[in-house]
Amino acid sequence: MDPDSAHPRYQLIEYEAGRDDFAEAVREGLLHPSKTLPFRFFYDHRGSQLFEEICRIPEYYPTRCEREILEQRADEIAEHFEVPITLAELGSGSASKTTLLIEAFQRRQERLQYIPADISRSALEASSQGLLERYPKLEIVALCAEYEQCLRHIEKETLAPKLIAWLGSSVGNLSLEEATRFLIQIRSAMASGDGLLMGVDLHKSAVVLERAYDDAAGVTARFNKNLLDRIDRELAGEFYMASFSHVARWNEAMSRVEMHLRSDRKQRVRIAALGIEVSFDEGETIHTENSHKYSMERIENLVAASDLTLNEVWTDAQGYFALVLATAGTERGNHANA
Ligand code: TRP
Repeated sequence: MDPDSAHPRYQLIEYEAGRDDFAEAVREGLLHPSKTLPFRFFYDHRGSQLFEEICRIPEYYPTRCEREILEQRADEIAEHFEVPITLAELGSGSASKTTLLIEAFQRRQERLQYIPADISRSALEASSQGLLERYPKLEIVALCAEYEQCLRHIEKETLAPKLIAWLGSSVGNLSLEEATRFLIQIRSAMASGDGLLMGVDLHKSAVVLERAYDDAAGVTARFNKNLLDRIDRELAGEFYMASFSHVARWNEAMSRVEMHLRSDRKQRVRIAALGIEVSFDEGETIHTENSHKYSMERIENLVAASDLTLNEVWTDAQGYFALVLATAGTERGNHANA
């Protein structure tokens, strides 16, 4: 949607991201003795497109399982709340599963305000355009910003009650400690009676997990390597893509799939905009992401530690994925000071 086609039911709010953010993160991550790159940089325009493709590959079960649960439970979720409610979504992407929630809410209230939040502006615009055409009583306030800013906006500018959706097991990309800290942040953007709807991927066999993160068609590999391509495009890097491989390994002790980019040979890579040269040994990896898999007990502990009340944990028929509904109680507790 360009400014000329401004839509009366659409508003885009952009929070300026730190401009040198990517450059600084790349410098720091690649000059560190154990190389890493922060996963939030996966989701540029190209990365968001590739992620949509991942959601459709046969081996990547989380999207299908989460949709199955939403198909069965959307009305039950809607009935949990007073009308009218506001629906916010962190990391909304293509918002293709969100339609199930929108429709369930609109069976109870005609007008609905939906606040999708994402770091990809192109994903926000494309998804909003489709939703506005499809739902004539939907009003959209799109937030283009990182999670923290989105939460601050949602806390201050949203009418109560609200449901904050955080789907796709994005929580799994955080460590347990980070997840708790982030849920506490979400909790502090919530008022009493507000809800959190969170998708969480469950612990399962290593074979299923490793296939989900290293599909036969190589889409996941392309998604992971897009990070290097992004460095080449934005920071005048000189990565030779064919000399790096995508690696996904299940780490049972940490209960997570680890994603890496492995240098298949000894090499030095120049990144002109940073004025650095990065050396790689043969087999050395850049750790790009973790995807933690939860047990029921871990889910319960996480929610409790974040001062939320667990209402429901639904799973799909295979027991692969969980959808968690939690609400904020009346007491705005503060465990740190208790
Ligand atoms: N949030 C997604 C997940 O953990 C992200 C993801 C899917 C991903 N496949 C990937 C990240 C492959 C890196 C590489 O399931």
